[in-house]
Amino acid sequence: AHTDHADFMSKEIGEQPEVAARILDELTPGIADGSLWRALELPPFDRIAIVGCGTSLNAGRVIGTAFSRHGHVPHSAIVASEASSTIVEPRTLVLAISQSGETADVLRAIDQVDLGLSSLVAITNNPHSTLARRADSVIDSHAGPEVGVAATKTFVAQIVTGVCFALSALVATDRVDRYHARWLADDLALIPDLLAQSLAVSLESVPPLVARLHAATGYLFLGRGAGVVYAAEGALKLKELSYRWAEHYPAGELKHGPLALVEPGTPVIVIDNDDPRLEGNIAEVRARGGEVLRIGSIGSDIPALGRGIAEPRRGGIEAWGPLESVVPLQVFARQLALELGRDVDKPRNLAKSVTVD
Ligand code: F6R
Repeated sequence: AHTDHADFMSKEIGEQPEVAARILDELTPGIADGSLWRALELPPFDRIAIVGCGTSLNAGRVIGTAFSRHGHVPHSAIVASEASSTIVEPRTLVLAISQSGETADVLRAIDQVDLGLSSLVAITNNPHSTLARRADSVIDSHAGPEVGVAATKTFVAQIVTGVCFALSALVATDRVDRYHARWLADDLALIPDLLAQSLAVSLESVPPLVARLHAATGYLFLGRGAGVVYAAEGALKLKELSYRWAEHYPAGELKHGPLALVEPGTPVIVIDNDDPRLEGNIAEVRARGGEVLRIGSIGSDIPALGRGIAEPRRGGIEAWGPLESVVPLQVFARQLALELGRDVDKPRNLAKSVTVD
């Protein structure tokens, strides 16, 4: 209950391992035989279009990547408020993803895109929402109620749910064989432990780092490959909770402009998912006096990533990426906000459900 926690955000961050475990218990049996997907009774598809806003769009990008990396299904991510200029081709599976299912930008987007011979699937935490009623099929993201304005456990729930359905869809449409799907499902099963380990490490290692860096006025978040979307989510959380400037970049983009922002003391948070090219990027930041914080495995500033702790096989790493890296990012944003005296459950200017466009 809330009384055991300082705020709802801390409670909801803490719930993430159990939320993931509960969803996986329910959904993994329907992956390798494709039954999870078949039950939705959707027509065949050639491509995926993801529609959403904010954190939900970040989760959608991860789900889209699962379709592309494992099934070679092309995917695009559409910012809902910009959907009016988007052309959706026939046989596109449109995945509208919204925690509340009431976000005006998303509802307007699905009205605006000409679905034609395509189908609309909603992934939402509210199966009775307006979005759910308008979709051909509804996938419940089953996170349980989220009170904190900043999305935390619903992000993890959307990804775990969406990836289970994506893998099941790839089996049901003969793009992935069931042996490979089972192997990936075994990898998914590691997520609850990885999140739990990440949480324990984050609660210990993040607060002293924040105490050292809280005077900074801007923060950079870098990643590569499947880490980029988590860098995006980390920067979004930090902005909305702490009211400090934060930006994210694929690390290779640094030298194309953002490196000019780095001065002595600039915090640069790196999602270190073992891409060897990150070393050069980190060296460039350090050479300008930037304060690099690596979220990685053992030996990192925040050793919250599973490899080196659990040595899992990580066959899914290319698709859903270092999901457990979101935990230290959430803890970092919350801790910084607290140091700055912010209300972490109710950031200024924001609403839990944005029903205006
Ligand atoms: C960020 C956050 C927002 C929402 C966005 C979409 O922490 O909560 O970015 O993710 O407003 O909301 P839903 O998912 O309800 O459509």
